[in-house]
Amino acid sequence: MKKRIGILTSGGDCPGLNAAIRGVTRAAYEMFDAEIIGIHDGYRGLIEGDYQVMTRDQFSGILTLGGTILGTARTPFRNMRVIGDDNVDKVAAMKKTYKDLKLDCLVTLGGNGTHKTANLLSEEGLNVIGLPKTIDNDLYGTDFTFGFHTAMDIATDVIDRIHTTAASHGRCMVIEVMGNKAGWLTLYSGVAGGADVILIPEVPYDIKKVAKVVEARAKSNKGFTIIAVAEGAMDKEEAKMKKKEREAKRAAEHYSSSAAVAQQLRDLVGVEARNVVPGHIQRGGAPSAYDRVLSTQFGVHAAELIRDDVYGVTVALKNNTITHNALKDIAGVPKLVPADDQMVATARMMGISLGD
Ligand code: F6P
Repeated sequence: MKKRIGILTSGGDCPGLNAAIRGVTRAAYEMFDAEIIGIHDGYRGLIEGDYQVMTRDQFSGILTLGGTILGTARTPFRNMRVIGDDNVDKVAAMKKTYKDLKLDCLVTLGGNGTHKTANLLSEEGLNVIGLPKTIDNDLYGTDFTFGFHTAMDIATDVIDRIHTTAASHGRCMVIEVMGNKAGWLTLYSGVAGGADVILIPEVPYDIKKVAKVVEARAKSNKGFTIIAVAEGAMDKEEAKMKKKEREAKRAAEHYSSSAAVAQQLRDLVGVEARNVVPGHIQRGGAPSAYDRVLSTQFGVHAAELIRDDVYGVTVALKNNTITHNALKDIAGVPKLVPADDQMVATARMMGISLGD
């Protein structure tokens, strides 16, 4: 019997989305009679009925391609049940598109927000399977999300390149790594790039402690300092503020975490400090070999679940095994860096300061 599979990518893009799409569809074509409907721009396409019936050749040659061939958009979960000025009941509209297309299931590739909406649709009776993507690696229930490894490689390459120029000039260089709530990417690329200081949102920093490290290194025969700071890192004072207050402060100061740290260090230590923001470069381009493999494995497992009619789940990697979690157990649970995380301990034991 033919299975009609809707597939969409939602939220911020990342390398490996196309590899995962290819994994699901190719394994589905191999294993059973599949028809794939590509939904454009994530849940927006599902709401508006914007889709295309895909052909097998459209999934060929995309393994190494960055971005997503389906397009993506941020459609915040908090608004899903809110009927706005357009008078559209988004949940009803998504269910209608699913029904009109006579889908047997919907595969959603995304991060935390995507999984919350996937769970909502599952609760509404749709057959949904999630695939965990995000460079932030902050999805609960999986050791790694696809996209994280590639972004770590890119951020590490940035740190490596900054390292040599920092050493030549004896400067303090502050590199801002993506990650607003979770510090995984900064922590891992900071360790990989040999940073002297790593500042992550989960560990509020004291700039005076950071200044001490910079001062000591400036006086040492090294002379330079490498600081990896997460986009969402905050100092101890900011950590006490309510989210809205903190955001207002940052907006008023045209805040960038790396610019703030560099400025404070210039003031406190008098060093030549510069900040670098690689930004969306971290999300662009071809996936690493590791992410190509992980995305393919995730995609193939999703196809197996469709074959076996197992829905209401999301694919995961646990202890080096590809498996799945119930959507209801992981949706809306962010995976932040715990204080006792082994990589945090590794960093500390390597003499890397977390600024606390
Ligand atoms: O969730 C991935 C991510 O790249 C975060 O690290 C970052 O804070 C955010 O997306 C940026 O979002 P946007 O692409 O919408 O600017």
